[in-house]
Amino acid sequence: MFDLNSLTLDEKLTLLTGKDCWRTESLGGKLPEIFMSDGPHGLRTMTEDWKTLPATAFPTLSALGSTWNKVLAKEMGEAIAEEAIERNVDIVLAPGVNIKRTPLCGRNFEYVSEDPCLAGDMAEQYIEGVQSRGIGTSLKHFAANNREFDRLFQSSEVDARTLREIYFPAFERALRAKPWTVMCSYNLLNGVYVSENKKLLDGVLREDFGFDGVIVSDWDAVVDRAKALKATVDLQMPHTDNAFDTLKAAYERGYITDEEIDASVQRLVALAEKVISNKSKRKITRTKEERHELAVKIASEAAVLLKNEGVLPLKEGERIYVGGKPAKTGAFGGGGSSYVESEFKPKDLAECIKECGVNAVYQEAYFSDDGARHGFYNLRGGLARAASADKAVIAVGFDRYTDCEGTDRTTLKLSPIAVEFIRSVAKANPRTIVIVYGGSAVDMSEWIDDVAAVIYANFNGEGGNEAIARVLTGKVNPSGKLQESFPLCLEDTPTGSYRGNGCADVYTERVFVGYRYYDEADMPVLFPFGHGLSYSVFEYGGLSVKEKGGKYEVSFTVKNVSSVAGKEVCQLYIGAKQSMVARPVRELKAFDKIELAAGEKKKVVFTLSLRDFAYYCEELDGWRTENGIYTVSVGGSSRELPLSAELEIKLSADEQPSQRVWA
Ligand code: GLC
Repeated sequence: MFDLNSLTLDEKLTLLTGKDCWRTESLGGKLPEIFMSDGPHGLRTMTEDWKTLPATAFPTLSALGSTWNKVLAKEMGEAIAEEAIERNVDIVLAPGVNIKRTPLCGRNFEYVSEDPCLAGDMAEQYIEGVQSRGIGTSLKHFAANNREFDRLFQSSEVDARTLREIYFPAFERALRAKPWTVMCSYNLLNGVYVSENKKLLDGVLREDFGFDGVIVSDWDAVVDRAKALKATVDLQMPHTDNAFDTLKAAYERGYITDEEIDASVQRLVALAEKVISNKSKRKITRTKEERHELAVKIASEAAVLLKNEGVLPLKEGERIYVGGKPAKTGAFGGGGSSYVESEFKPKDLAECIKECGVNAVYQEAYFSDDGARHGFYNLRGGLARAASADKAVIAVGFDRYTDCEGTDRTTLKLSPIAVEFIRSVAKANPRTIVIVYGGSAVDMSEWIDDVAAVIYANFNGEGGNEAIARVLTGKVNPSGKLQESFPLCLEDTPTGSYRGNGCADVYTERVFVGYRYYDEADMPVLFPFGHGLSYSVFEYGGLSVKEKGGKYEVSFTVKNVSSVAGKEVCQLYIGAKQSMVARPVRELKAFDKIELAAGEKKKVVFTLSLRDFAYYCEELDGWRTENGIYTVSVGGSSRELPLSAELEIKLSADEQPSQRVWA
């Protein structure tokens, strides 16, 4: 154990700020230096001269969210940790679990979902995976950092109940894996910089959620180092020249105390000791090739089959036309601090389809991206080939410039050129399949009726086109599900094109975020949260809900009634039939992905607690489970729930305030 008393005041104050952009201070070797590196879907390790070292580019976290596969989340964490070990990185600055409140947010590709249960459970497994290899994580960005516009200056104005029910729970659930650090966000929350928000960082994160690790600032998120220390931000990153002087002056005028300084230094020392004590866990179990294959596997499970009118899977002997820029380049990820420099040369989708046994030819028939010319060239050749093929596969979507940290999208639509490309090819060949790459919901209303099938690929990493080829040809049965709702248009979303006024972004929709909003408004959507087709057919049955020792056991069966083995994501939603407050119609409370051979049936059991039925009551300053009837629904999508049952909860009247008596 390191003796804090061996440190002078100046040494302690020095420790509270990074040594440079990626390392903590070691006080000349008195403490081990901790090396941190981005990012959530692959290492972005910078050298001294600001070059990014190559690493495996995994599918982004929103793609991982689309797999709904907790095992893959853990494996992705393990694999990234193994590359961290190779680079002598001690902490990976990930995962990000901010809720996808608006599909315009430029960083949505880095975040798991619009739903806190899915986001938190997947992040928990990711953290377990990384830390199982003796490498730390940084759960981020706490809290309510849900758009990029003006992220350093704008205040997220959010009521207490909405914070507790929507923006905190993903962190709460992920904290079960005990991340070594939590990263506080840039924005203000209700008028106070998060980095100075003691009620949030010390009150909620530490006292309520039990986090006892290091709070690290987002890079340049600290406005006043002394105020941040009082809010329990232990480590300011990156190194900032005036931090020491600010702290020293604040100490001398009595604004910060020895207790506050020692509390943070103690946590930093404990972190350094944790890095050292966990080095024995560091082991590399996967080769570079195996990590690439894992990236392909995740990408194949992230692919969401949105629509399929009898054209997929592709069959041997069919002649396939392939077009569209991403079919050549892939779409590894979005832009910004999470962008991974992969050494892997993207595989051509047509070549990958051929490797899966189906004849395919790629022909460029799409706009040039050389900037000088926007518009079709060689379209005639492309259309002729598309018309003469049995089926056409075209790849379109967003990229690292449209979906990027520090900026938000301005539209949910594909570019007009891409839409025209889709419609031209679909006119030439109605058996057209569209592959859409991106980090967030896409407005497909202009063209979806013209095409026979659509796969939402996400930003699916370096192995993306290999994965899509496997799904297209049936080598992999698609099992991805949407981790966010796809609305019909931007105007239908709760926030529309509103992005705050530069000072405040008012969360007027409250808890009605994503599917919670569309279901409450009983609004049609293009594709609902949790939607995703398969080449198999699954049948649900045998729902039973029973109280067991203060918990509620929900069990049911799922049968694969087709001749194709496949994976199904079973989703469980809860809804209160009556309530003293406005509550979402249904909320996801548990999910699992199961594999079923043709004809196989499995039983699934979920266990719920009273908290799963509760809402956050500001007046009681706590979670409240009301007496009454609840609907328990189970199925493969938030809007396809074939099983439902009613459950009555009756707590003793003394345990809660009076309720309206329903007629
Ligand atoms: C960035 C991001 C954060 C990242 C950090 C270091 O601005 O907000 O996610 O880990 O700075 O690059």
